[in-house]
Amino acid sequence: MATHNEKIIILDFGSQTTQLIARRIREQKVYSEIHPYTLDLDTLKAMQPSGIVLSGGPASVYDEDAPISDPGIFELGVPVLGICYGAQLMMQQLGGRVEKAEKREFGKAELNIEYTAGLFAGMETAPSHYQVWMSHGDRIEELPPGFSVTANSAHSPFAALRHEDKPFVAVQFHPEVAHTLIGNDVLRNFIFGLCDCHPIWTMHSFIDATVAEIKNRVGEGKVLCALSGGVDSSVTAALVHRAIGDQLTCIYVNNGLMRTGESESVLRFFRQKTDLQVIDIDATSYFLDELAGIKDPEKKRKRIGYGFIKIFEEEANKLGNVKFLAQGTLYPDVIESVVFRGKAPIKSHHNVGGLPERMQLELIEPLRELFKDEVRELGLELGMPEEAIFRQPFPGPGLGIRIMGEVTAERLNILRKSDVIVLEEMKTSGWYRKVWQSFAVLLPIQTVGVMGDGRTYEHVIAIRSVDSRDAMTADWSQLPYDLLGRISSRIINEVRGVNRVVYDISSKPPSTIEWE
Ligand code: XMP
Repeated sequence: MATHNEKIIILDFGSQTTQLIARRIREQKVYSEIHPYTLDLDTLKAMQPSGIVLSGGPASVYDEDAPISDPGIFELGVPVLGICYGAQLMMQQLGGRVEKAEKREFGKAELNIEYTAGLFAGMETAPSHYQVWMSHGDRIEELPPGFSVTANSAHSPFAALRHEDKPFVAVQFHPEVAHTLIGNDVLRNFIFGLCDCHPIWTMHSFIDATVAEIKNRVGEGKVLCALSGGVDSSVTAALVHRAIGDQLTCIYVNNGLMRTGESESVLRFFRQKTDLQVIDIDATSYFLDELAGIKDPEKKRKRIGYGFIKIFEEEANKLGNVKFLAQGTLYPDVIESVVFRGKAPIKSHHNVGGLPERMQLELIEPLRELFKDEVRELGLELGMPEEAIFRQPFPGPGLGIRIMGEVTAERLNILRKSDVIVLEEMKTSGWYRKVWQSFAVLLPIQTVGVMGDGRTYEHVIAIRSVDSRDAMTADWSQLPYDLLGRISSRIINEVRGVNRVVYDISSKPPSTIEWE
């Protein structure tokens, strides 16, 4: 019988592709969650997983400080799939032997399948040449009792393994990456074949479950939500509102650093299409006063952040008796990356940094299990308009960190007008949705130009457009020259005070996406 509680738990040993495992499983409409490998056995048991995946990782199982999960996992009667490091750990914990390989195996390899049931159900047996992707420097030398080989590759005689009586399987390659052409089949065989899951996890079931959970948790209490105009907070508000109606109040603070039209359409949507209560605070002059004379980027950020919290707190206190704060934290923000050799700290994310502690509010983070594109799907399912859902990310400090040096009303005006042109041209050319972000930056210098017969000495606008998956790394977008040309000539012709436009061709790292 299919139940809505089916889930696959992934234990993370620090691989760069652990998030992809979760994604690939959810794409099969089975819910999955990532936890650090240190998760204790009782907690894991209480989650009643349908299956467990041990991820890859950079360590060697024979290292003294190797990350080791509780071997009791193999006593739970739950199917386990080990991937790369996870496969080696499974072998070691069950009595096999792993050693350093003479040759590292990295990149594409051909998999020769010896046993076509279990993980390889539906595939052809040897000699088969399935492309898989490997990345390991250790290899399994001796199998634990009860295990046999199900596939090999040129450098890995034990490229895939299974236990003959128990539901334990292991692969040396990475089924979650696109280069492993049979990756989805392998994962499907694990979750549907071995774990007996059903493809029933959809946004619709997510909405039902989350709405019930929020109702239950909040009871009669009041909830606040800081609406920023961005996708995450808008979808959070819509979801919480569906659960508790007018027990939710949203606060939208206009800090005067927004793009032209950036928030208006979201506010319009909430006002016209929902009965959500939105308190709309225009704090433009407060923020401009606070920023007067400030040139240092960090000081600007701090003043903007502090101002936001102050105003938010005042409004919240006026409402009184608020117990919860709803926040649009996403999955990549909350995954506790494993602390391994002190390198990767646990990430934390507070859109309204420090506020929950200060006001003693409990957090409601209904999106904390979702990825950005899942949030977009959820927004559409909740009936939000596409233009609100497919909006590019916009930083909290807004245009304040896109004006190099002091923020003044005049400089904001120049930047806004330039920025609108960038947006319009990106949208009409069809490039807006192809890139991660695209925007204008006002530089703190003036340069010489000539207009008509006269010399000009005016501002420079830089155009920034990047391609990225998660903003951690980014490449400058290879926009067509004619599009860049149109943006440049329109800005110079239409925006008073600008006589030069340049295009930023730096990647992140070593640059960042924003200029400050
Ligand atoms: P950077 O400039 O660090 O930006 O490469 C990465 C992503 O984060 C956004 N960003 C911010 N978002 N508050 C935010 O809410 C901030 O202070 C902030 N700084 C940068 C940036 O737009 C990009 O998407």
